[in-house]
Amino acid sequence: MIMSPRSLWSQHILPFTLLVALLAAGTLAGDYLLHRLDLVWVGRYLGIPGTLLIIASLVYSLRKRKVIATGNPKSLLRLHEVASWLGTLLVLIHAGIHFNALLPWLATVAMGINVISGMVGKLLLGRSRQHVQEQREQYQLRGLSRPEVEQAVFWDAVTLNTMTQWRKVHIPIFSVFAILSLGHIFSIFLFWGWL
Ligand code: HEM
Repeated sequence: MIMSPRSLWSQHILPFTLLVALLAAGTLAGDYLLHRLDLVWVGRYLGIPGTLLIIASLVYSLRKRKVIATGNPKSLLRLHEVASWLGTLLVLIHAGIHFNALLPWLATVAMGINVISGMVGKLLLGRSRQHVQEQREQYQLRGLSRPEVEQAVFWDAVTLNTMTQWRKVHIPIFSVFAILSLGHIFSIFLFWGWL
């Protein structure tokens, strides 16, 4: 299937850019509103629903790895995408623009890399792989030799390769995110006397 550049833009790059921009805009707007309405304390607690949404999104991973046997994988993937994006937004608003402690900020950076690597995987990788493959086929049809074809698609192939590595980051960085977050949550719960 040959896709036009227009569909590449509208189906993949635009949604990716919009989702990242919306995350940034939502965080800024949320933080601004909380400060404006004198509800900064609410932000402290937004970490809880945010974390719960991210935990809920993991049902998909359990289903994928056959730890649980029920649930439609396609709907669970949708849940994974929506819940992790929304949970990230809540945690970002929760983090706000306060800088007192390093640990939760490291957790936030790991979370950001995580959600972006997930979106790269979903929205950009499949299409880009297809794009490079189509280019290879076109060059072959024009009669270029194999080394010439590889030379012609070199930079696209390098970019694609980087994106594939990026996706591999998704699971290890999730572990870093989880450990750092647990450290932060544990210390806050101790401080609040909840433990
Ligand atoms: C059960 C979930 C969570 C609770 C109850 C919680 C609670 C809190 C509280 C009370 C603060 C304020 C600390 C202060 O005033 O100095 C805080 C700050 C913060 N939290 Fe959380 N949090 C949770 C989850 C998370 C997660 C999952 C992340 C990141 C991935 C995160 C990132 C941050 C950041 C970046 C700050 C600002 C730290 C600073 O002031 O330098 N939180 N959290």
